[in-house]
Amino acid sequence: MKVLSLLLVAASAARAAFWLEDIRHHGISPFNPDKSYTVFRNVRDFGAKVTDDTAAINAAISAGNRCMAYECVGTTTTPAVVYIPAGTYLISSSIVDYYYTQIIGDPTNMPVIKGTGSFKSPTIGLLEGNKYMDNGRLSFVSTNVFFRQVRNLVFDTTDVPGEIAAIHWPSSQATSIQNCMFKLSTRSEDTHTGIFMEEGSGGLLTDLIFVGGKYGAQFGNQQYTMRNLTFINAETAILQIWNWGWTYKSINIIDCQVGINMSSESVGSAILLDSQFINVPVAVVTGHDPSNSTSRGSLVVENVMYTHVPIVLQASNGQTLLLGDPVGVVYDGGYATGNLYAPHGPTPMQGRDESYFRKPSTLKLDYVYYERSKPQYESFPASAFLSAREHGAAGDGVTDDTASLNALFKAVSEANFSSVAFLDAGYYLVTDTVYVPAGALIVGEPLAAVIMGAGAKFSDMNNPHPVVMIGMPGEVGLIEMSDVIVSTKGAAAGALLIQYNLNTPAGAKTCEADLPPSGLWDVHTRIGGFAGSDLQVAHCPITPHVPNHIDPTCIAAHTSMHITPSAGNLYMENNWLWVADHDIEDLNMTRITVYAGRGLLIEASRIWLVGTSVEHHALYQYQLVNASDIWMGQIQTETPYYQPNPPAPFPFTQRSEAYYDPDFDTDCLHNPHNLNYHDGTPTLALAGSPPCAMAWGLRILDSENVIVFGAGLYSFFNNYSTNCSQATAGENCQARIFAIGPTGEGATTPADKARDLSTVEVYNLNTIGTVSMVTRQGADMALWGDNFVNFASTLAVFRF
Ligand SMILES: *[C@@H]1O[C@H](CO)[C@@H](O)[C@H](O)[C@H]1NC(C)=O
Ligand SMILES: *[C@@H]1O[C@H](CO)[C@@H](O)[C@H](O)[C@H]1NC(C)=O
Ligand SMILES: *[C@@H]1O[C@H](CO)[C@@H](O)[C@H](O)[C@H]1NC(C)=O
Ligand SMILES: *[C@@H]1O[C@H](CO)[C@@H](O)[C@H](O)[C@H]1NC(C)=O
Ligand SMILES: *[C@@H]1O[C@H](CO)[C@@H](O)[C@H](O)[C@H]1NC(C)=O
Ligand SMILES: *[C@@H]1O[C@H](CO)[C@@H](O)[C@H](O)[C@H]1NC(C)=O
Ligand SMILES: *[C@@H]1O[C@H](CO)[C@@H](O)[C@H](O)[C@H]1NC(C)=O
Ligand SMILES: *[C@@H]1O[C@H](CO)[C@@H](O)[C@H](O)[C@H]1NC(C)=O
Repeated sequence: MKVLSLLLVAASAARAAFWLEDIRHHGISPFNPDKSYTVFRNVRDFGAKVTDDTAAINAAISAGNRCMAYECVGTTTTPAVVYIPAGTYLISSSIVDYYYTQIIGDPTNMPVIKGTGSFKSPTIGLLEGNKYMDNGRLSFVSTNVFFRQVRNLVFDTTDVPGEIAAIHWPSSQATSIQNCMFKLSTRSEDTHTGIFMEEGSGGLLTDLIFVGGKYGAQFGNQQYTMRNLTFINAETAILQIWNWGWTYKSINIIDCQVGINMSSESVGSAILLDSQFINVPVAVVTGHDPSNSTSRGSLVVENVMYTHVPIVLQASNGQTLLLGDPVGVVYDGGYATGNLYAPHGPTPMQGRDESYFRKPSTLKLDYVYYERSKPQYESFPASAFLSAREHGAAGDGVTDDTASLNALFKAVSEANFSSVAFLDAGYYLVTDTVYVPAGALIVGEPLAAVIMGAGAKFSDMNNPHPVVMIGMPGEVGLIEMSDVIVSTKGAAAGALLIQYNLNTPAGAKTCEADLPPSGLWDVHTRIGGFAGSDLQVAHCPITPHVPNHIDPTCIAAHTSMHITPSAGNLYMENNWLWVADHDIEDLNMTRITVYAGRGLLIEASRIWLVGTSVEHHALYQYQLVNASDIWMGQIQTETPYYQPNPPAPFPFTQRSEAYYDPDFDTDCLHNPHNLNYHDGTPTLALAGSPPCAMAWGLRILDSENVIVFGAGLYSFFNNYSTNCSQATAGENCQARIFAIGPTGEGATTPADKARDLSTVEVYNLNTIGTVSMVTRQGADMALWGDNFVNFASTLAVFRF
């Protein structure tokens, strides 16, 4: 034994640290006027040494005139990767997070951030993500907190007396907390919470373990996707403060008094999948009133196991709604409390009925819906990472890096999964397609590596050209890509930001394990609204007072992403396809009008979309055509704020058959709500007659085996005014937002008739600002007023 432990000590002393610590650091921020700005910082270089490391970690975060609360509302020019090596760091007051910051620990030996017994802070969190100001408002507008991560850390508050949260995290799109552990006080006099989140428009949380606490977590946000969270020995595992929609998957709640308390007046809906409760007296507390069709707290549960759980569902008044078994095991195949449309409704649904849950095995692995976290390649040595800037790319936003990136991606794809392309922070300007061959593993310096298409090749609005092409049509193999942003610069009406053609046969291998699908984690598109894009306030001001004004220099993309018919077996997680509605660099968050045609078009099979969001594209956000086996878990969309001035499809007036563009002319002529669109002549809607020529949030044509576990389809504006989305106005921003099947009689195809639409299921559909919540084969099936809850209208189950 003695010899063995000595060997272990020797091995750990010799062990290399995480590659991110060991690689050479070349990242830059080319649009920061300070040319000496450094993206990567190791807290050790700022004096963190284990006695009191608060100042050192805060110095590592703030160095370089970065975007700090109170002074700055946002910027993309000061991104930082703050690296924390193994060790225990004592913290006596909050670590204050800045804008656009990735705080990353060593996953091979997770550092511990430990609050001291004398911890003092006027703020909420040990890690303070967004301080409150004296006026009682958050210093960063929570719905503007984008592009930040926390990974691989242990937060220990057990020594801190009183009230504290390990992380205060009001956050929005393209943010995540991954692979962290929370050790919280269980003393009755303390009120500890692992994560406290009260606002925002998120986001992803994954692979977290919470031990102890009065609350494992308190969650409030518009919508969120959270998976693989384990709560042990908390009083209440999850207190749901407010929401419109939420998707919980793979949640383990063990030895807690209450599992999920979602009884608050402000909770719209939640979905719970593939989860278990063990030794929990009350699994879920709901505020839902089954006799009230517009009641809050719509709940959908599938594949959940209860062991020693006397009460599965309890009303907020203490009444037992669903019994468990205090000494045995109860299994729930599926139940819902909320409004059912099958396909007509609303019918109140309250209780177990597995027949509403089809559970296609094609989307599952080992009895749960497939899931896989962003790979961190922690077993790879630093030498496995090929730096883009060491391999000839400049990343300076000026030099044409097309050839360098193509050479780099070819090199890693030929290395048989032993090399990873590392895109150092920077802007990689490309004038032609960057091709990602099968076999490529690609990692960006987190969220600071941007591939930016510009130039003549991307200029023809009717002839889209890929900026990044993953696989050639017909190509077979596996890729993984994470933490990369794809963008355009200036006018780029023909830019197809990501074309995904790759087919990954089930069972493809990397050297890590058997991994069926390829993966894109934190791969985002960002169109306009950032320094260097030439699509900012100065270039693309809003023009609500000018009817149907279109500035062609602000047409910046044809399509964000196209998953083509040759593709298959792709896992996407935490992806945000965003056409900017405002300029991130601007102190007043001033709105801008930038045009991009289509959001995410999927024509393939076996695609998982876990925590994705598509916003502000002119024709649609998500469109599925002849697609099958599609899992979508908490998707979120927004209609462009300028519409209907000009209306859809402007400025993309030439309809592309190849892209299955919606035919607004036909659809809207057939729409009884809409008298505002005649033969392609845009006229602006009047109050009381919601416009029809508006972008679809989600359109599903000719597709089968599609499951949507949570959708927030939002339309807040008409012509930059929110008046139409106030419930008092009758949710009048647009007539329709979600279509299944052909939308107008003219659009019916033989294939559509042949497809079995009965295999499309939608759970917890939440809409805002639209009259019809679901339009099926041209007919409006569910109206907002029958399902209005808080700000959103919610229906629990829609199926045929
Ligand atoms: C869930 O998270 C834990 C760490 O918290 C990790 O060890 C485990 O592999 C994760 N499971 C999945 C399916 O990702
Ligand atoms: C659930 O949370 C509410 C606060 O939203 C609280 O008043 C109530 O006591 C909690 N219920 C249980 C059973 O813990
Ligand atoms: C139904 O629920 C809504 C939202 O929770 C509430 O405002 C309304 O008062 C309830 N109606 C009745 C009759 O209880
Ligand atoms: C690729 O790697 C796998 C596993 O590491 C190995 O079995 C295989 O022989 C390698 N193939 C080539 C062509 O090097
Ligand atoms: C858009 O709204 C503004 C008020 O914000 C109004 O003055 C203008 O007339 C509207 N535009 C059109 C084309 O109706
Ligand atoms: C922000 O708004 C204020 C007041 O409206 C104005 O004085 C200032 O110039 C604006 N700043 C920017 C950067 O637009
Ligand atoms: C639809 O997809 C199937 C494969 O899933 C293919 O065989 C068929 O040709 C496609 N139909 C159309 C109209 O593209
Ligand atoms: C929105 O409503 C307010 C209050 O009714 C009104 O004063 C304002 O003019 C409206 N704005 C537009 C653009 O219609």
